[in-house]
Parts: sequence; C-alpha cells; structure tokens
Amino acid sequence: VAVRTPLIAGNWKMNLDHLQAVAFVQKLHWTLKDAKHEDGSVEVAVFPPYTDLRTVQTLLDADKIPFALGAQDLSSHDSGAYTGEISGAFLAKLDAKYVIIGHSERRQYHAESDDVVASKVQAALRHSLVPVICVGETSEDLEKFGASAVPVSQLAVALEGLSADADIVVAYEPVWAIGSGQAATPDQAQDVCAKLREVVAEKLGHDAAARTRVLYGGSVKSTNIASFMREPDVDGALVGGASLVVDEFAAIIRYQK
Ligand code: G3P
Repeated sequence: VAVRTPLIAGNWKMNLDHLQAVAFVQKLHWTLKDAKHEDGSVEVAVFPPYTDLRTVQTLLDADKIPFALGAQDLSSHDSGAYTGEISGAFLAKLDAKYVIIGHSERRQYHAESDDVVASKVQAALRHSLVPVICVGETSEDLEKFGASAVPVSQLAVALEGLSADADIVVAYEPVWAIGSGQAATPDQAQDVCAKLREVVAEKLGHDAAARTRVLYGGSVKSTNIASFMREPDVDGALVGGASLVVDEFAAIIRYQK
C-alpha cells in the first residue's frame, strides 16, 4: 500500500508582494518550529505570485525552511514570442517543485479550456514540475449534473496521454466553496475525491492512483481541516484565504485527526 504524505498547500493568489512574502514565510516558519512538517509527516507548500518566487526561494534555501515552493500557473509553451507568459523552464530553475494548473479562477477569468489545462499539465511534466491539477463544479453544474460529473470529465481530459509514472497532484475545488465560507462536507469531498482517484486509476493505472495525492480545496480553515483529513481519499488541502493568515495557516498544518 502506497503511503501518501499529506500535502497542505497555500495558494496565495494575487496577494503578498515580495517584501510581505519574506515577513510571512519567516513568521510562519517560527510559528511552526517543531511542528510535524519538520519531521516530514506532512508536506507544506506555498504558492506565491511569480514576482515573489525568487525572493521566497532564496529565503527557504538560506534559512533551510522545509516548505516546498510552487507557482500558480505556467505557459503551455517552453519559450518564444509569448509576451507576459512564464515557462516551466523558468519555474524549474527557481527550484519550484509544484505548479497549480486549471484553477477555477483561470478557467473562469482567462477562459482556460480543458485542452489548455491538458497542454499546461504536459508542459509542467516536461520540466519535472509536479502539476497540481484543479478541477471542480460550479453551483450550476452541481444542480444540473451532481457534484462529480464535471470534475471527473475535467480530470480525464487533463490526464489524457500521460505516462503511468507521471508525478501529479489532483485538487478537488468545488467552485461554490471557494472563498464563500461554505465548504463542502467531508462526505461530499470524500465522494468526489474517491471518484477522481478512480479516474487516475483508469488513465494512469492502479499504482499511480495509490500514490497520487488528491486534495480538497474550498473554504478550508483550522476548524474544519481535521474533518477532511479523516477521509480516506482526501490527502491534503489547497488553502486560499486561510493560507494568508500566519496563525490560521499554522493551525491548519498542525491539524490533529
Ligand atoms: O486554491 C485555493 C482556493 O481556491 C480555495 O480558496 O479562500 O476558499 O480557501 P479559499
């Protein structure tokens, strides 16, 4: 049986400039001294804006802070005349381990289709970045098709053609739960996360499904994290608003089942 190290990931979205990022990461590190991320029993990752990445990377490296670094998006292209875009190669050079792909805010405000998401997943893997593939239904989808149909089909497209050893993370983020204060129930999250794991099994095989972490995201807080982490198919959380408050994010990382 594969052991999946829980992943608590903070998606800062368009918050904290590079100076604020330094203060934040240092304070989080001090707050967490001797917490379980230090012994590797939970992995912590931060996803700052692009302009913070170099600064945060330097700080993590200099102070030996055991947080993984990720970016919030990348280009599907590797280089060239794509004004304003950031390539996977650039992110890899900054020691980014992860990159969020297909967040609902990208799908919604930047018209990212399932096919664009799939090409970005391939770009991430070309540069040995671990894509954190976000899927989730809107409240209209929920009413029309139930909770799992849309995320299942989004994930199936994103995984098309990947090899069985692809290192990926899946994040189930119901759009109606993002920033709304209304999280999914642990049962709802478990149900969809289990179905997403089945998609990984179909597309990449059972070994991949057993080792791939499936996260829940959407109004995760220190008061509900444990209830999600008790579910067998929820392997961590992708946290937005609560990842911007040091004590709250630290309390999420210190969750007790
Ligand atoms: O990517 C994380 C996110 O979309 C969830 O946001 O603020 O509901 O935790 P929030």
